[in-house]
Amino acid sequence: MGDFAERYGPVAVVTGASSGIGRSFATQLAGRGLDVVLVARRHDRLRVLAEELRDTHGVSASVLPADLADPSATGEILDAVASLDVGLLVSNAGFGVKGTFGEGDAEALSSMLMVNCQAPTQLAHGLAPRLRRRGRGGILFTSSVEGLMGCPYSAGYSATKAYVNALGEALWAELAPAGVDVLTLCPGATDTEAPRLQGIDPTTLQDLMSPYDVAHAALEHLRDGPTYIPSAHYRDLFGTLLAMPRGDALTAMARSMGR
Ligand SMILES: NC(=O)c1ccc[n+]([C@@H]2O[C@H](COP(=O)([O-])OP(=O)(O)OC[C@H]3O[C@@H](n4cnc5c(N)ncnc54)[C@H](OP(=O)(O)O)[C@@H]3O)[C@@H](O)[C@H]2O)c1
Repeated sequence: MGDFAERYGPVAVVTGASSGIGRSFATQLAGRGLDVVLVARRHDRLRVLAEELRDTHGVSASVLPADLADPSATGEILDAVASLDVGLLVSNAGFGVKGTFGEGDAEALSSMLMVNCQAPTQLAHGLAPRLRRRGRGGILFTSSVEGLMGCPYSAGYSATKAYVNALGEALWAELAPAGVDVLTLCPGATDTEAPRLQGIDPTTLQDLMSPYDVAHAALEHLRDGPTYIPSAHYRDLFGTLLAMPRGDALTAMARSMGR
């Protein structure tokens, strides 16, 4: 067993494993010898992926279909993994509601708060004591560069990711003395289904990374928390914005959205 599997294995729970960055996490974790528990709503996709991971990497891969917008989902996931030796939680599922605040669907906003904030909080709450007791392992939260400051026309989404950043930073400091690594991953634009679901043509996005590269970089930097931005372009951009007077930065961002 390699160093990575010894530190974070034997079992990783990956939410949002049916597509994009989460699918890449699941595939690369299986490639590193970890058994995986795959969580998302589209169980057909999860089943195909689980079979592929078993065949290719000889690991155990199980499927937990769940709608993380449902308040009972995280309790059911924690119950289902209670007997497994979970060494790594990859809390990655999430989605964005964009546009002029107040003009979108209020129900979608509530679902986004559940999936992006409630689910990571409850999954980490359930697994942190177990990780602390075993004295090794990790939690990886997929946040976003949008969590680094309020982003106009993405107000609710950037607020959910600011929440994740605060949660991840706090847990990094709490769990480090117990030998548990916490990384809050802040991707910039990534070529997944997410931009299209938000009505954005991905080819118009700057420095688009592949989900493979985002997941790979995050796993390579799992010990380098509290937060990690995989894209050099977005590291520089947000470094510049965060160094500006906040009002100027927000006005510039709002203008760049063409509004
Ligand atoms: N793509 C980007 O540019 C970008 C940038 C920064 C951060 N991120 C973050 O990266 C993470 C992964 O997104 P992605 O880009 O890989 O997008 P994606 O391809 O759309 O994947 C999103 C994943 O989340 C799952 N999910 C969404 N709603 C869910 C729900 N109600 N219950 C359970 N699972 C749910 C989806 O599974 P089902 O639909 O099967 O349920 C899917 O597996 C998200 O947290 C996102 O905010 C993405």
